[in-house]
Amino acid sequence: MTKKYHLITLGCQMNEHDSEVISALVENMGYLAVQTPDDADLIIINTCAVRKKPEDKVASLLGKFAALKIEKPDLIIAVGGGMSQQEDAAKYLKNRFPYLDLIFGTHALSRLPDLINEAGSRRNTIIEIDESYADREGLPVAHSGGFKAWLPVIYGCDNYCSYCIVPYVRGRERSRAMTDIIAEAGKLASQGYIELTLLGQNVNSYGQDLPGQVTFSELLAELNQIEGLERIRFMTSHPKDLSTDLIETVKNGEKICEHFHLPVQSGSNRILEAMNRRYTREHYLELVNSINRNVPGVSITSDIIVGFPGEEEEDFLSTVDLLEKARFDNAFSFLYSPRINTAASELADTLTHAEKENRLQRLNQVQHRISKEINENLAGQTVELLVEGESKANSEIQSGRTRTNKLVHFKSNKDLTGKLVRVKITEVRTWNLIGEIDHAPWQFQPK
Ligand code: 5AD
Ligand code: SF4
Repeated sequence: MTKKYHLITLGCQMNEHDSEVISALVENMGYLAVQTPDDADLIIINTCAVRKKPEDKVASLLGKFAALKIEKPDLIIAVGGGMSQQEDAAKYLKNRFPYLDLIFGTHALSRLPDLINEAGSRRNTIIEIDESYADREGLPVAHSGGFKAWLPVIYGCDNYCSYCIVPYVRGRERSRAMTDIIAEAGKLASQGYIELTLLGQNVNSYGQDLPGQVTFSELLAELNQIEGLERIRFMTSHPKDLSTDLIETVKNGEKICEHFHLPVQSGSNRILEAMNRRYTREHYLELVNSINRNVPGVSITSDIIVGFPGEEEEDFLSTVDLLEKARFDNAFSFLYSPRINTAASELADTLTHAEKENRLQRLNQVQHRISKEINENLAGQTVELLVEGESKANSEIQSGRTRTNKLVHFKSNKDLTGKLVRVKITEVRTWNLIGEIDHAPWQFQPK
């Protein structure tokens, strides 16, 4: 009988991509994907350690799976990803959930088939967090969408922002060879993928660890030449490393989408320094100006941490002020949560949860207003969409993304999934836009 697996992914796009590798590896072992854990012979949770919330989710999921394990003693339960990679968290998981069969870290993907086979024939929990298996070049990928794909360009992070666990769970920065990336992009294009999103914790430092010191801009310019691709996206950019070259490349590369995800984290220089971000608010705002000046119609999104240790009301107001000045298309805001081993976890938490929540709400109110105001400028304009499929709420409505990554809903009785269409914006909301298909002849607008 065919064995079945159920995979749960928490966290960011890099984790989603890792899950595509996990899927391909277990499918090559003969497992078939199923949507519910009840039917599975193998359950894998791909965890994230960046913030506390996804960690809490892991404990609640594992608690639920205990009953399944009693019913089906041969069921294999595995936990991978960022949480597993930390030695302390791995030990905690093993002690609290002794029925866990396998705990594998972010560096263990190449060993996963062997580990699963081993887990099936052993009674005790296997822990694999050795960094020496980190090389993952050539591992298979089960791409989850037929027309857009993730493409990692650099793994790990060397920045050690004081609040962040990523350097500890994803290791040193490792750029993939440009030839490997270009070959993979070419293959994806020939298989019909028209949109690629280049992934890295800090794409701007791509190439610095490679012989010949290629740059991220050079990589983008090469990818822009690949026939068949229509859109190239990238994330995440670190403000301290974003070059004028990159802005120029986004401006000129006709396939490169006009969107920067450029996390600022705080608008207070004092807090930025305590966060070890290595830029000032002035430098950041200058970058935003330069991007806006050079790339017409660009969108800029950001991440903000609220309630970092020592954040005074004055610091918080500087962040609100930065939001007003930078005018992001959107900003994702998070309550600070201390992460084990990080420098900031040594600092005393100076705010109550209620104070942090209050700041988060005030910040979100400002950002929601700004997002809506920016979207209002799009009313009446015609934009290009890559259609992603039916809207979740209503099957008569289809949804797509603009080059600037905004979600637009429109009516169509034809399934246009995976197609590029032109839509005229008729209604503006904070989170999305409503439009109607524009049948006017296509006028190519050179950048
Ligand atoms: N607490 C809260 N938010 C965090 N982030 C990273 N580490 C923490 C933390 N300890 C946020 C940052 C980052 C995003 C991916 O997660 O804003 O840009
Ligand atoms: Fe974390 Fe900073 Fe690296 Fe981003 S740049 S992954 S916030 S350490």
